[in-house]
Amino acid sequence: MRLLKDLDLSNKNVVLRLDLNVPIQDKRVLDPTRITSSVPTIKYLVDKNCKVLLTSHLGRPEEGAFDINFSMRPVADKLSEIINHEIDLINSLASSDIFNTTQIQLLENLRFLVGEKDNNEELGYQLANKGDVYIFDAFGTAHRKQASTHSAIQQAKFACAGLLLEKEVNSLNKALTSVKSPFTAIIAGSKISTKLELIAHLNSKADFIIVGGGIANTFLKSQGFNVGESLVENDMIEIAEDLFNSGKIILPNKVIVADSIDSNHSTTKNIDRVSSSDKIFDINLSSNMSEILKSSKTILWNGPIGVFEKEPFQKGTHQLAKTIANSKAFSLAGGGETIAAINKFINKDEVSYCSTGGGAFLEYMEGKILPSIEALGG
Ligand code: 3PG
Repeated sequence: MRLLKDLDLSNKNVVLRLDLNVPIQDKRVLDPTRITSSVPTIKYLVDKNCKVLLTSHLGRPEEGAFDINFSMRPVADKLSEIINHEIDLINSLASSDIFNTTQIQLLENLRFLVGEKDNNEELGYQLANKGDVYIFDAFGTAHRKQASTHSAIQQAKFACAGLLLEKEVNSLNKALTSVKSPFTAIIAGSKISTKLELIAHLNSKADFIIVGGGIANTFLKSQGFNVGESLVENDMIEIAEDLFNSGKIILPNKVIVADSIDSNHSTTKNIDRVSSSDKIFDINLSSNMSEILKSSKTILWNGPIGVFEKEPFQKGTHQLAKTIANSKAFSLAGGGETIAAINKFINKDEVSYCSTGGGAFLEYMEGKILPSIEALGG
């Protein structure tokens, strides 16, 4: 993969594709993680005296028209505050202001542009050749084959990866290619079907796979346990059984049940004591799981093991986060909900690396080649 250090960037006009797709409410950024993670590359370019046109998508607006609800304005304001630098918001790719006002500019939402989602070559060409160099640093969007994430990289005279993308790939590879054993993955979330490829891929890499959430329910049912009225994917039972036969899947022995997700009360039950009307909303981190995590040298975490947003069902995810924070292993976490749980229960610095990717993180960990990384020669 071509990197920043491979190019002479001094005094260049640079188009920098970031993933500034952050949660926004009432025109305010709720979680600036993706913005702060993009700052090192921006600073690197400012120090090289570059003029920088930042670009990103935000949400999923209709293409072809401006929509205030998907405007980059709140992102521009937040970034400007974080880096203490003036930032002009540029409304159109045809604007004569590009590279002619502030040193750092931000283009309006790329997904307003016709052709972005369809990987239109003409749009890719325009984005790629607005400046002298096209830099791609949007790891969170590297799994999308779109004009700014694929065609532009292919058509740029000079294109390379930014510092965030370089760091993401190096960190994720530590758990894929240069992994230290014992390697434990925690894969949780509501549906096994959305994580099937990940679990299947990790089955050949990891020593243990701890499961939680609805995924654990499906595995438990495949092993003959009664999971009551809990969320289960019945059409995945056979697949779960096959995966379980690898001997790497670690199931909970105690679960936290209630009548409803809105219940203020929960009960901890042994897994063989779940009744037909129970719903499982959390799991207990068993001593076996804790021991496995303590002796692991590499830990990968994707998905909260319980409904941690609700107080009665947060204990399992809380215990898990604390155990990872106290571990000496190289720990890697990814996915929006996982990072939200980390922010809630521990400090992000207590995990060795938190990925900015959601879908991109999953696909990379499934062993897929991401289109943007491939276009960059990675
Ligand atoms: C994400 O949030 O996962 C990325 O920004 C990609 O967004 P998308 O799923 O709308 O393409």
